Amino acid sequence: QTFTNLSAIPYSTFRFNAKLVTVYQCETLADLRQLSFTSPPVVLGEGSNTIFMQDLLVPVCRYTAESITVADTDTDHVLVHVEAGHNWHQLVSWSVQNRLWGIENLALIPGTVGAAPVQNIGAYGVELADVCSYVDFYNWHTNNVERINSAECQFGYRDSIFKKELNGKGVIVSVGLRLSHTPKPILNYKGLDHLRADVDIETVFNAVVATRNSKLPDPKVLANCGSFFKNPVVSLAHYQRLLQLFPDLPGYKLADNNVKVPAAWCIDQQGFKGKQNGGIGCYELQPLVLVNRGEGTAAQLRELIAEIQQKVLNVYDIKLEPEVRMLNADGCVNV
Ligand code: EPU
Repeated sequence: QTFTNLSAIPYSTFRFNAKLVTVYQCETLADLRQLSFTSPPVVLGEGSNTIFMQDLLVPVCRYTAESITVADTDTDHVLVHVEAGHNWHQLVSWSVQNRLWGIENLALIPGTVGAAPVQNIGAYGVELADVCSYVDFYNWHTNNVERINSAECQFGYRDSIFKKELNGKGVIVSVGLRLSHTPKPILNYKGLDHLRADVDIETVFNAVVATRNSKLPDPKVLANCGSFFKNPVVSLAHYQRLLQLFPDLPGYKLADNNVKVPAAWCIDQQGFKGKQNGGIGCYELQPLVLVNRGEGTAAQLRELIAEIQQKVLNVYDIKLEPEVRMLNADGCVNV
């Protein structure tokens, strides 16, 4: 099905008032095979990590198939094959109802299953890469589905091959996840560390939901795209220099000896909590989240981003990179 000249508001949880010139809604592989276009489409799930900074002149493609198939089992594990259009949180709820461990910490992350591998969604000590077995990718050039094994997905922190070599080359049509019958609670993150090691899966799920609800705005109520910047990684020497000036600066040592610093802490310390620039603001409870209070514009968003980046660069010598995909008229990422 093809729609033309649509308002972008329902297609992005940041709800900027732009236009989408063409939207292809595909329900089957046959629908994808029938598409013909001159510039490759922008692939969109529920728009929970995408902002339309301008009217989008290239087409959008949405793949809406959403079945779940339990493909294979051994005594401990289940291989769950899920089509890309399935809502992520509904999949998490399904896994919790079926006592299948692995993604309960990823409850309430907005968006679709197909979007999950693109930025390797993660929260509370778990990321998609930990349970992803493969990603099925429909390639615009070959018109075929290619199975990309987890090891080939180049998963990193909020990163994957789908943001790099495969960006613009096709659409994720399904994802294979390896879930476990054996309880494997991951409880080291703040907010879950009060739970006992023999906790049941609903309790973990409920704790994640409660923690998220206590500080993240519901995009249905207040337009936002979750964390706006990635948490920066600095060298140990850089971190130690900063600690002399800011003894309270939190840091998480990574395997490669670099240190991940919470962007929220830096933004918070610089007084941005609750700060507004026109209709765009820094959320009061979690300043890493930027919100659109209704009449926000792309220009106001750019100004607030620049102000935050400049301040954090001046004070901490840290360059904050956006985590959200901001798109120009030609579908290219605009920072
Ligand atoms: N902090 C402050 N002030 C605040 C909030 C946080 O100083 O108002 C500091 C604290 O030191 C806190 C630290 O920031 O310990 C980390 O905060 P939080 O646990 O809220 O997590 P985050 O680093 O801000 C990341 C992910 C979230 C994910 C949470 C939980 C990124 C970019 N964001 O946020 O993911 O839900 O951890 O695991 O990595 C998303 O990607 O959209 C997202 C919401």
